[in-house]
Amino acid sequence: MIDVPTELLDLARAAQRITILTGAGMSAESGVPTFRDAQDGLWAQYDPMTLATPEAFEAEPDLVWAWYAWRRHLMTTIEPHAGHRALSLWGNRAAVGVVTQNVDDLHERSGHRVLAHLHGSLFTLRCFDCDLPYDRPVELPTTQVERLAPPTCPACAGQIRPDIVWFGEPLPIAAFDRAEEAVTDTDLLLVIGTSGAVFPAAGLPLLARANRVPTIEINPTETELSHETTLNWRIRAGEGLPALVSALD
Ligand code: OAD
Repeated sequence: MIDVPTELLDLARAAQRITILTGAGMSAESGVPTFRDAQDGLWAQYDPMTLATPEAFEAEPDLVWAWYAWRRHLMTTIEPHAGHRALSLWGNRAAVGVVTQNVDDLHERSGHRVLAHLHGSLFTLRCFDCDLPYDRPVELPTTQVERLAPPTCPACAGQIRPDIVWFGEPLPIAAFDRAEEAVTDTDLLLVIGTSGAVFPAAGLPLLARANRVPTIEINPTETELSHETTLNWRIRAGEGLPALVSALD
């Protein structure tokens, strides 16, 4: 039996509008390695911080495209976990909106109301040169290949890239505007599975607190946000969320 912190339970029971801000830890129990986990297999030799950059794509498009194609393939073998399902149940009884830093589709596949993908999505593509969205089917490798040529843009023959925010690139303004509204115009903010290491996303809990929104961290370890929150619940998302939602009655 998991003890849900009383203060969190009282806040959750009273909340009509709840915003959930997630990071890689929310996908971890589904088997998606967190951003700062060591990579495995072929990709262990590469540092995501260097691959996830426009410079890397310009220098080695086949390598960067292969990495994202492999990550996209991995998502076909991964399922939402009990924490995702708990949020879906909560969404049946209150207005639950999700703002995520993650680029996977686990929230969408759980039927969550996703308000913003702050760092883009593995599942949307665009031209590196002319920015034209690219929505044609793409070949996904079923084994870890190190090189795979990206598709070419039908409009300008440029190379197609993932529509993901790479290091050094700005966040999508519209998504960030929606996120700011979602963390200020709400009754409760849950910050789940993020180290709070990357701004401006990591600034959202601070903005919530400045607007007197109760902010709860759900994370098994302390983070750079822990001293800014109303309460920290040291628990995994897949364990804590089912316990919280089932205790709401
Ligand atoms: P990190 O890998 O930095 O942090 C993952 C967090 O999840 C850590 O604090 C873990 O303790 C926590 N965690 C792990 N397992 C968990 C579980 N089962 N339940 C709850 N929490 C768990 O990932 P992010 O904080 O998401 O940006 O990283 C933020 C951004 O850094 C990423 O979106 C990416 C990277 O730069 C871009 O790519 C632009």
